[in-house]
Amino acid sequence: MSPDAGARDAPAFLLHHRAPRAPVFIFDPDRGLRTMSDKPSYGFTTTILHNDRRKPIEHYSLHKPVHTSVAFGYTDARQLASVFQGKEPGFRYGRQGNPTVSALEDKISKMEDGVATLCFATGMAAIGALAQALLRAGDHVVSSSFLFGNTNSLWNTVASQGTEVSFVDATDVANVEAALKPTTRMVFVETIANPRTQIADLARIGELCRARGILYVVDNTMTTPYLFRPKTVGAGLVVNALTKSIGGHGMALGGALTDTGVFDWSTYPNIADNFRRQPPAAQGMAQLRAKGLRDFGASLAPEAAHHIAVGAETLALRMERTCANALALATMLEADERVAAVHYPGLPSHPQHQLASEQFRAYGSLFSFELKEGIDCFDYLNRLKVGIPASNLGDTRTLVIPVAHTIFFEMGPERRASMGIAESLIRVSVGIEDTADLLADFGNALP
Ligand SMILES: Cc1ncc(COP(=O)(O)O)c(C=O)c1O
Repeated sequence: MSPDAGARDAPAFLLHHRAPRAPVFIFDPDRGLRTMSDKPSYGFTTTILHNDRRKPIEHYSLHKPVHTSVAFGYTDARQLASVFQGKEPGFRYGRQGNPTVSALEDKISKMEDGVATLCFATGMAAIGALAQALLRAGDHVVSSSFLFGNTNSLWNTVASQGTEVSFVDATDVANVEAALKPTTRMVFVETIANPRTQIADLARIGELCRARGILYVVDNTMTTPYLFRPKTVGAGLVVNALTKSIGGHGMALGGALTDTGVFDWSTYPNIADNFRRQPPAAQGMAQLRAKGLRDFGASLAPEAAHHIAVGAETLALRMERTCANALALATMLEADERVAAVHYPGLPSHPQHQLASEQFRAYGSLFSFELKEGIDCFDYLNRLKVGIPASNLGDTRTLVIPVAHTIFFEMGPERRASMGIAESLIRVSVGIEDTADLLADFGNALP
């Protein structure tokens, strides 16, 4: 069975009618548009735009349709059985796979240069599936302590269920190495941590995991595959919260896990016998699809998949603009005496600025900052006219949030302090507005 979920789950209509004879405009980034002789290498956006036409689309439709059907009808009951047994490609039931979702999965695989992707209802569902499908009581996980708050909470839940979790400062590989145990199954980091922007020692942790045969999972949400591909530093699985910059419009929730093909699943102890029968390259995703997606049921709706796929087409364009805006804003605020600190990897003052410059195409759309003592962060936020107080990131609009009082409130002051979260910290997810308008808005709001 192919490790490529898209190939396995070929459009159902093909199973009935076989490949259409009429000329279908198939884009193949490896072989080129229409011409099969030359082998041009297409850029990120060209590849993402044309990716879903690599397989024929029904009725020569230019865009992939939204398939809302939960069930897939077969004219031959034996074929249905064969699809269920994984002997031939096809869809079984909407919770486990859907043509619109499958097209998005192919797109994300292309973005990440991965071999297969599995989509979920949210980014958290994708991270939760790691624990549900791949970890058992008695296992050990090493996680960066600089994490999105809900991921931190999730690891605490996982720990309460019998999997040991060590939180370490992952900006230095030595801390990760010191925490490893014979039972360590997984090392988990975010590229740029949300919201304090610490950067994990990505490449060295990758080398360590490869040398020890440990699964390396990288949450790429803050960088997106346009700025960074975790596969290049040896990540076996990549997490993307599609809700954020990949969708980009803040109108659909979604998450994804991508298998980069780097990790040797035949060495992973927790693969169940029925998945061991598959080729090693397919075992991880097969178990994640069954035990993580099918059994827990946090499936991505086809309508959401469609919205995310449309948004994904402009990922590179938006990232260029939001990263430039973020750098301009962070630079302006850092130079202002009313601002106590600005945390943005694009600033030379950031502790991992050099690392970020070497690894990422740009420094990201998100920064956080602290106002000088005596300036009320709520009053400041209320004076903004363009920036909107809201809890999301990666939107086309600039969103701001007082971190300690909202998304990191639940964890309490001690844990916040250990994560470097000041009580006055403001997180800014920078949008695509005109740079001059953002500079004026954030400057004018200072007292
Ligand atoms: C780095 C990171 N990972 C995962 C998530 C979870 O994504 P979702 O809100 O789609 O569940 C978020 C959400 O902000 C995030 O910032």
